[in-house]
Amino acid sequence: MKLWEKGINPEPAIIEFTAGRDRKTDLHLTKWDIIGSMAHVIMLNDVGLIENNEKNDLLKALHSLFVLDEKGTLVIENDVEDIHSQIEKEMASILGTTGKKIHTGRSRNDQVLVDIRLYTREEIDRLSVIIGKLFNRLQELSEQYKEVLLPGYTHMQPAMLSSFGLWFGAYAESLTDDILLLAEARNLNNRNPLGTAAGFGTTLPLNRKLTSELLEFDDLLYNSAYASLSRGKVELAIASSLASLAQTLSRFSMDICLYMSSEFRFIDFPDEYVTGSSIMPQKRNPDVFELIRGRSNIIQTLPGQIAMLTSNLPSGYNRDLQLLKQLIFDAFADLQESVEIMMLMLRNIRIRKNITENPLYNTIFSTEEVNRLVKEGIPFRDAYKAVAEMVKNSSFSRTSVSDYIHEGSIGNLCNKEIAEIFNERMKCFKNRSAENLAKKMMGHVG
Ligand code: ARG
Repeated sequence: MKLWEKGINPEPAIIEFTAGRDRKTDLHLTKWDIIGSMAHVIMLNDVGLIENNEKNDLLKALHSLFVLDEKGTLVIENDVEDIHSQIEKEMASILGTTGKKIHTGRSRNDQVLVDIRLYTREEIDRLSVIIGKLFNRLQELSEQYKEVLLPGYTHMQPAMLSSFGLWFGAYAESLTDDILLLAEARNLNNRNPLGTAAGFGTTLPLNRKLTSELLEFDDLLYNSAYASLSRGKVELAIASSLASLAQTLSRFSMDICLYMSSEFRFIDFPDEYVTGSSIMPQKRNPDVFELIRGRSNIIQTLPGQIAMLTSNLPSGYNRDLQLLKQLIFDAFADLQESVEIMMLMLRNIRIRKNITENPLYNTIFSTEEVNRLVKEGIPFRDAYKAVAEMVKNSSFSRTSVSDYIHEGSIGNLCNKEIAEIFNERMKCFKNRSAENLAKKMMGHVG
């Protein structure tokens, strides 16, 4: 069954290719397609395009599909192109003539737009919860190990004193920026495209503000042609925020892999959390972090893929856009799983103490010695030269650790200030389930 069939049997190979993976992919959108349809039905009744009893029947039928979907029994049949067609087919088979009114004043183009925006809003909110947990754990570790020193590296050479407090805290602050970008992407996403139909509006007197309120959008996407153009644009903004988070996860994972190697041995995990080799009995591998790094690096290519997919498209709907869905769905799933497994690892991380006592790291105290001389009144460049000479002729011996007092240094991490910024940025995310929205729609039966 094709919604657009007009008496000519489409060539099956063409249908298979154009439907592509949508029969599976679109299942991510089912509950949102139903909820969007419920809002549409309530609005059609409000503007007088359907009767009260038709609205009631349509809402009840849609709700029965919502329940089927929750049980996992709603599928897209082989001869049906996508979730929008399947829902319309189900409605016609449950309600006959009334069911056929569901598509009044809309197109699959605005339907898929609204579905993706509702899906994305939920995924962003869900992701923010687990990012919040990761942030808290990193700050907890930073506080717990703030006295434990680490050599800080630049150019992969031992450089200056650092600490586990500074290292863990750095990634927490990195998440603070990622969450701001995610909040901005959410903001951009939270506008309603429903009612823009195929991208040119409709002659039917729709009330688009009503569907916006019902679906809890902040406002409309006003211009119908822009609503269509926004497909790809909003995904690009979302992908950029996901790429930023992926960058944080990837760099942290790289540090972990390096710090766990036998040359470093700064950190470790219990045997149950590392993997082995089929041939080398001694191996204890950080596969979890390698896979987080790999997946995150792939996610960092997402903005480029989306930009390529959309950059030369003329305005109006083009089928290429269909390919955006899987990219975004996979990215959310990968990130959610990666952060969850990272949390498990960080609950079990072991920290080695006394690392900087190794003579290998003697010279990381040299900048401290320069600063000690500066505090005695010696001009910086002269102090630098004096210490450099000692390092050169191997007469430099480490001094005791001096005070680090300025904001953001190892003696003054400012984790509290960072947490305040993070928590402020977290405020825009909401815990709103599809089930509650569906229930709210059912309140309009009557
Ligand atoms: N599967 C399509 C997509 O994701 C739905 C919209 C189809 N619209 C059309 N005019 N062919 O883009």
